[in-house]
Amino acid sequence: MSMKLPMASSLHNLPSLVSFLGNAQRIVFLTGAGMSTESGIADFRSTTGLYAGGVDKSVFDIEVFDRDPAYFYRFARTFLDTIRQARPNAGHFAVAALATEFRKDVCVCTQNIDALHQEAGISAVFPLHGTLQTFHCRKCREPVESRPIWSAVAAGEIPQHGGCGGILKPDIVFFGEPLPQDVYAAAETAVRQADLLIVAGTSLAVYPAAALPACRTDACRLVIINRDSTPLDFQANLVFHESIGSVLQGAVDRLRKT
Ligand code: OAD
Repeated sequence: MSMKLPMASSLHNLPSLVSFLGNAQRIVFLTGAGMSTESGIADFRSTTGLYAGGVDKSVFDIEVFDRDPAYFYRFARTFLDTIRQARPNAGHFAVAALATEFRKDVCVCTQNIDALHQEAGISAVFPLHGTLQTFHCRKCREPVESRPIWSAVAAGEIPQHGGCGGILKPDIVFFGEPLPQDVYAAAETAVRQADLLIVAGTSLAVYPAAALPACRTDACRLVIINRDSTPLDFQANLVFHESIGSVLQGAVDRLRKT
């Protein structure tokens, strides 16, 4: 005779999430690429992600970039265009609603470079892996605004600094580069002060971002919303192996009715 194990968790846990959200004052989100798949941007490590689709991890390696920037820019031509055309999805709007509508103290620590959280209307965002808003020159280090560079990249060019001719690189964090220290420190402080930490759409495979949940206090509840299981599922108060959009929008809709 066999016995079915109870499901670890699922949408039947939505009422508990609604209660956590209702009771929390300081809510921190740690988000990753899965936050934006419902906006049409592929993630990295799931079965439909960039790596499974043949993109090599070295495309974001700083040594490879400095040796052969064309390798990154060939990939970036479509990748950056997809990001530029993407719009926030139900999950991004639900996160923003918690701050704007429910007056929660919400901040988002994100590994994403797409700025979709900000576009959805939330300003307290810590972009752990940098931003596409600016580039800098690898030779003279001068920062350069991104807008004029997009069309060059889209046309298949490798953007160069108008003054010194050095190669321009977007200010996103490549493997082999440090994270922006002030941003990471602010994220750590936010997690330490949180009473609810929601990890959404990240495999928690990349450090130091994956270490942030360890900064939470014992009083902080941990919720994980991720299609695939993560190394922290066993520590979480609630785990949803579901779509972020449906979980967060579902929770916020229910919160509106309480
Ligand atoms: P990953 O691709 O490693 O993980 C994304 C996770 O999101 C996967 O575990 C999916 O199961 C889950 N997921 C995808 N769509 C989802 C959805 N709609 N609802 C719920 N879950 C969903 O992405 P990250 O953890 O963000 O770094 O990757 C971390 C870093 O690795 C990235 O910032 C990038 C990458 O290499 C650099 O490029 C430096």
